[in-house]
Amino acid sequence: MTSELFGHVQEFPDPDSGERFDALVGLDAVKRRLVDEAIVLLKPEVLDKWSSKHHDGLVAAVRSVRERVPLIVLAGDVGTGKTELAETVGHPIARALGVDVTLYPLSLNARGSGLVGQMTTLITSALTEVGQRAAKARSTNGNLNRAFVLLVDEADSVAQSRELAEMHHEDRAGVNALIQGIDTFRKDGLPVLTIMCTNRPDAIDPAVARRAAHIFSLERPDQAQRDFVLQAALSGASNITNADIEKVAHLLGATEDRPYGATYSDLRQRFVPDAVLDAFGRDAPLDGERLIELASSFVPTRPFVQEP
Ligand SMILES: Nc1ncnc2c1ncn2[C@@H]1O[C@H](COP(=O)(O)OP(=O)(O)O)[C@@H](O)[C@H]1O
Ligand SMILES: [Mg+2]
Repeated sequence: MTSELFGHVQEFPDPDSGERFDALVGLDAVKRRLVDEAIVLLKPEVLDKWSSKHHDGLVAAVRSVRERVPLIVLAGDVGTGKTELAETVGHPIARALGVDVTLYPLSLNARGSGLVGQMTTLITSALTEVGQRAAKARSTNGNLNRAFVLLVDEADSVAQSRELAEMHHEDRAGVNALIQGIDTFRKDGLPVLTIMCTNRPDAIDPAVARRAAHIFSLERPDQAQRDFVLQAALSGASNITNADIEKVAHLLGATEDRPYGATYSDLRQRFVPDAVLDAFGRDAPLDGERLIELASSFVPTRPFVQEP
């Protein structure tokens, strides 16, 4: 289903998404915690069970966990896996909860058209629609039969700091609509987890940051992670040795006059495909020497720089 309000709506479990989720490197701690947060936020009763299992009855702390707003922020540089993680995490959540999960990616395209009130109307309608569906997600005995993930990607455009002087009144109304909607999900106990992704962690609206159950920071790969991604992508190319890959991974890292290395997407979507097409164009096999040459001239994506 695709509507004006949402991008591609995805149902989980979905094994393809599971594979994409598993293929994300260097995010094991984030993945584990994200799924645990989701379980607790979407199905708070699991904490009661945990509490009675390990303590005699309900520990007061369980309540403070429950009072948090079901909002998670993924913050980090471009190409670090925020969108990929948010789009696929529904799979492990569905598996862990034992219920189907639906992902609604909020489509913020309408913003560009600049029509007054459109952004706010869009957000309000989207949250209302998700809320209405989520209200039917529990059976009469209170059991959860479906959970929802609402994805606000490139959240910079809506949830960016309302303190920025140049920020338009319109955006402020959009942020308010978003916060109110998410807060209503919490008050009504609806099984909706909102994930916001932003390339500009410093510009997250303080009101949003304060409410978020957790803010995860995603980083560019280090040497070992670059090595791992390249090994995985180049496995089967017998003319490339481990030492070649290590050298390539090093060349794709930060240098003296460039304080940043390649992003994950630089590696998987630019460097590796370029190398394949280069070999294909010469009708030659991939080889270590050429790969090293390509790595020395590769230009990694610049970090997302904040405007002053
Ligand atoms: N941690 C990662 N491990 C492996 N591949 C990654 C990772 N992060 C990003 N990628 C690759 O880069 C692509 C773009 O990532 P994306 O999630 O769109 O980045 P972001 O939303 O943070 O800008 C992904 O589809 C994937 O191929
Ligand atoms: Mg993204």
